[in-house]
Amino acid sequence: MTPNSRFTLTRTLPANATAAALATDVTQGLTRFPKTLPPKWFYDARGSELFEQITTLPVYYPTRAEAWILQQAATGIAGITGARTLVELGSGSSYKTRLLLDALGTPLTYVPVDVSESALADAGQALLADHPGVTVHALVADFQHRLPLPRCPEPKVIAFLGGTIGNLLPAERARFLASLRTRLGPQDALLLGTDLVKDPATLVAAYDDPDGVTAAFNKNVLHVLNRELGADFDPDDFTHVAVWDSENEWIEMRLRARRALGVKLPAVDLSIDFQPGEELRTEVSAKFRRQGVRAELAAAGMRLHRWWTDPGHRFALSLALPAPVAS
Ligand code: SAH
Ligand code: TRP
Repeated sequence: MTPNSRFTLTRTLPANATAAALATDVTQGLTRFPKTLPPKWFYDARGSELFEQITTLPVYYPTRAEAWILQQAATGIAGITGARTLVELGSGSSYKTRLLLDALGTPLTYVPVDVSESALADAGQALLADHPGVTVHALVADFQHRLPLPRCPEPKVIAFLGGTIGNLLPAERARFLASLRTRLGPQDALLLGTDLVKDPATLVAAYDDPDGVTAAFNKNVLHVLNRELGADFDPDDFTHVAVWDSENEWIEMRLRARRALGVKLPAVDLSIDFQPGEELRTEVSAKFRRQGVRAELAAAGMRLHRWWTDPGHRFALSLALPAPVAS
């Protein structure tokens, strides 16, 4: 087959559905106190690029730690699962995924799912060249909503890497894991990457790099609102803030108004004010412990089958298998 016949990209959402979802999220998030925005709106083409830069920063250890684990574990994952299809949620550049694709062998169907169409297109084309036996069905979709997976060879592994599960709030996480469970046949498996609780200084540094790449990424959401909703945010009016919440065991990313501000968002017919120092929460990044991961999986009807970490115990990769839902 020619490379192109091995690549399809399906948009599961009409463009106006995305616009409507953004309008709803922004209206709800900016009219409550404290103000919040859901993290998926970071990832336009520029946001995806900035995130890729983050993954190469010396302070941002999760990507390197997870890649190290994948390198060690990939053969084992292939042996345990015998997967013929790899579904990956929030696949981004699919860079680390190559380690899994290599180990799973061919023929293999790869289904990357992401809200960022540019990331999917770039990643898919790059993969095909290096992986002749792989067929790619890319899906532009919101994994928290409808996930219309194509028919694919069984068994499958659903991978959710990068610690992205930590960007969901606990109640969303429970719902999300339960919905993934309904996608698993008896021979399927879930591969889950989670960042681990560690000293707060290391954690905060990973989300507040000295060169300001993370700050630019955080502020990118304001550029998205300016472009998509005609808003008049000046990103320079905000400071990037990353704090460790020891009670919830998550890093919280915020944008703090440097002064009193009035912002207009014509497309949603909204004018909002910021008090000096007022903070808008843009993301949480929860950190995990083994017992917590095991418990959340169990509550969703999955059994933790294998757990791998890096030598510094910074990050973990879990392989979960379907189990009867606890009653
Ligand atoms: N898996 C990659 C990228 C992680 S960044 C890695 O480990 O490096 C998170 C990715 O999830 C981004 O590519 C972003 O576009 C995507 N994403 C975030 N929220 C999403 C959602 N609700 N639905 C689909 N993709 C989402
Ligand atoms: N999934 C990534 C994480 O939680 C996303 C991320 C990394 C991020 N750095 C960020 C999100 C900075 C917002 C700001 O680690």
